[in-house]
Amino acid sequence: MKSVVITGATSGIGLKTAEKFHQMGYFCFLLARNLENLKTLHQKLDNSHPVICDLADYQSIDNAVEQIKSVIKFPLSSLVNNAGIFERREFAKVVMSEWEMMFKVNLHGPAYLTQKMIPLLKKTSNTSICMVSSTLGIKTSTNTSAYSASKAAMINLTQTLALELAPFKIRCNTLAPGIVETPIHGFDQMSPDQKRQTLELYNTLQPLGRVGQAAEIADSIYFLCSEQSSWTTGAILSVDGGINLL
Ligand SMILES: NC(=O)c1ccc[n+]([C@@H]2O[C@H](COP(=O)([O-])OP(=O)(O)OC[C@H]3O[C@@H](n4cnc5c(N)ncnc54)[C@H](OP(=O)(O)O)[C@@H]3O)[C@@H](O)[C@H]2O)c1
Repeated sequence: MKSVVITGATSGIGLKTAEKFHQMGYFCFLLARNLENLKTLHQKLDNSHPVICDLADYQSIDNAVEQIKSVIKFPLSSLVNNAGIFERREFAKVVMSEWEMMFKVNLHGPAYLTQKMIPLLKKTSNTSICMVSSTLGIKTSTNTSAYSASKAAMINLTQTLALELAPFKIRCNTLAPGIVETPIHGFDQMSPDQKRQTLELYNTLQPLGRVGQAAEIADSIYFLCSEQSSWTTGAILSVDGGINLL
C-alpha cells in the first residue's frame, strides 16, 4: 500500500479525489480545517487519517506535517495540493486583507506544505506532486484578480519544482479545472431555483455545453499522480470542457 496527502479533502474536488485514491487502494491523509467534516469522511474511508490543517497558518501546517510523520506507515507516493478559496470582486474594490488571504491559502500555504513534504517524497522512488490551479491561472477574467494571480503563480511554482525535483524522480504537475459544480461557487447559499439558473448560465458558456463534475477532475488528478503519467512533469493539464479555447 502507498500513502497520499490530499488538502481540502472534505468537499468538492478534494472529496472525490480522496474517494478515488481510496478506491485505488491508497492510504489517504485527509487535510482540511473542519474537524467534524474530517471525522465524517474518515468514518467513510477506512485506511485514512484525518489531519486538521489551516493553510493560512504556518504553525497549523507544521502541526499537520508532524502528525503525518508520526503516523505514516506506508510510503508517501503523492501530495495533492487541492485546497483553495475563490472570491469574485472588481479589482478596485479588493481590500489587501482579501488579497493576502487568497495568496496565503492558494499559494503560500501549499508552497510551505510542499517544502515540508519533500523529504517524505524523496524516501520513495517515482513520487509526484499535483497542484490544483485553475483555467483562470492560464487566462484570467474580470473580477478575479487575486484568485487568478494566485493560481497563475501556482502554475509557475509547479514548473520550478518540476525542474528542481526531477533529479530526485519527483514529478510535479498542475491540473487546471474549468467551472466545476462544487460548493466553492456558493451553491449551498442559493435557493434551488437560483442554483438551477446559475448552472444553466455556466453551462451555456462551455464549448462542451456543461460544467464539470468533481469526479471528472479527481480522475485527472489521479492520472497525474499515477504511473500512467510517468514521463509527465511540469505539465498543465486543462480539464475544462474547452473553455480555455474561447
Ligand atoms: N470548483 C471549481 O469550479 C474550480 C475551478 C477551478 C479550480 N478549482 C480549484 O479546485 C480546488 C478545490 O475546489 P473545490 O471547488 O473543490 O472547493 P470546495 O468545495 O469549496 O472545497 C474546498 C476545500 O478546501 C478546504 N479549505 C478551505 N480553506 C482552507 C484553508 N484555509 N486551509 C485548508 N483547507 C482549506 C475546505 O475545507 P475546510 O473549510 O474544512 O478547511 C474544503 O475541503 C481549489 O483550489 C479551487 O481553486 C475549482
